Amino acid sequence: MSNHSRARIPFAVLLAAVAACDAVPPNAPSFLSDRATAMSVASLGRPVSFLTAHQQAQFKRGRVVFTTDFTPETGLGPLFNSTGCAECHEDPVVGATGDEVEVHATAYHPSGQPACSDLSDVGGPVVQQHVTQALHDALGIDAEPLPEGFTATAHRTSPSILGFGLLDAVPEAEIQGFADAQARGHDGVSGRPNRTPDGRLGRFGRKAQSPTLSEFTAGAFIQEMGITSPSFPTELTVAGKPLPAGVDPARDPELSQDDLDAADAFVRFLDAPTPLAFAIGQLPGRKIFSRIGCAECHIPALTTGPNPVQAFNNKIVPGFTDLLLHDMGPDLADICLGEAEPAEFRTEPLMGLRFVTAFLHDGRAATIDEAIRLHAGEATAARDRFLALSDGERGVLLKFLGKL
Ligand code: HEC
Ligand code: HEC
Repeated sequence: MSNHSRARIPFAVLLAAVAACDAVPPNAPSFLSDRATAMSVASLGRPVSFLTAHQQAQFKRGRVVFTTDFTPETGLGPLFNSTGCAECHEDPVVGATGDEVEVHATAYHPSGQPACSDLSDVGGPVVQQHVTQALHDALGIDAEPLPEGFTATAHRTSPSILGFGLLDAVPEAEIQGFADAQARGHDGVSGRPNRTPDGRLGRFGRKAQSPTLSEFTAGAFIQEMGITSPSFPTELTVAGKPLPAGVDPARDPELSQDDLDAADAFVRFLDAPTPLAFAIGQLPGRKIFSRIGCAECHIPALTTGPNPVQAFNNKIVPGFTDLLLHDMGPDLADICLGEAEPAEFRTEPLMGLRFVTAFLHDGRAATIDEAIRLHAGEATAARDRFLALSDGERGVLLKFLGKL
């Protein structure tokens, strides 16, 4: 579960720590850069601008739901990964990253129709790592067993979701446009969207398996905490076997539609983190990023287009992603999910990269530098250009990335 001690560090100490370890631009007057840093930390976890009074109220109420620690009496489990959303999305503010690592499992049979099964009828793709005392007493298990028939398992670190409502508001046509542009290029980059069985473009989750933020949020309540809601009114099975009688005292649905809507609003309205340091100081690093081809996939700015919600109307999203799947080579490959093959991953958004402490989908890379070195497949050419940079240029690029 979560590292509670970190969540309790007083805000002032956190500010001082960030100010101390954040490299101050060499020529900037120190009072200016300190203030800029403090302001950018203080602004984290806030809602996007231009919300109506009703939307602001929804955001506040949703934050309460998101930070609720559920118990078996209020619906937790019987199978679960953690007790609340904010146990895993908490660092350095509610909605950012966490140190929990999940286990997923699916079955991939390349000649099958379809090739990928998420094994949802036998307990996949999320394999819950905790059970309530009642389920433990009934079955003698401490975690959900792996689903029968799986061909691969995967580890997934808990990502930051700050600014993901903006990503949700990017029109499908824009994302498809990125794929079309890449198909015309000659750099070996050829992303494609994941698609749901009913043809919608996927964008959330490391495999871009989920088409909308609302669906991901509703799914997270049942998959992560075992909380039923009007969207998912029945409890999870234990690897496909029905729950023994009497292990689930709370009445279904355990979350009301109002609370689900509020949680959805909270997640959706969380603003994107503003990069640290002045934009002008970031310019040389950003230029190298584009020059060596990182920006082919990590598209720095997406746009939301016209949107009836004022807060999302024609906004720029500093996402550093194309939300497309890319073949990243055999070493990173793990599970399939939807149309995503084992080696395909969604370009990880780099907004909020400064909160990440273990990089890539399973946290295998300890540094940003190592994460880039592990890029392969479609990203081979960009990686090789990164390796060919002078030490000085590589340092400028890494500094830029470390402030996103
Ligand atoms: C046990 C830890 C854990 C809990 C609890 C948890 N999450 Fe997550 N969350 C994760 C992990 C791990 C992923 C990455 C999943 C993947 O890659 O497919 C994730 C991904 C997400 C994403 C998509 C991010 C992306 O990169 O596309 C959203 C949105 C999200 N979570 C919201 C929530 C909400 C809302 C709740 C509470 C209802 C919640 N999470 C509870 C661990 C957790
Ligand atoms: C072909 C598309 C593509 C290109 C080109 C590319 N990346 Fe990535 N990048 C990805 C994908 C996909 C992931 C997620 C891989 C994973 O999780 O295993 C990723 C992950 C990352 C991560 C880890 C993020 C995290 O939160 O763990 C960093 C950092 C990164 N890329 C930086 C770069 C840099 C710098 C370059 C240029 C040298 C670059 N990338 C080029 C597709 C690309």
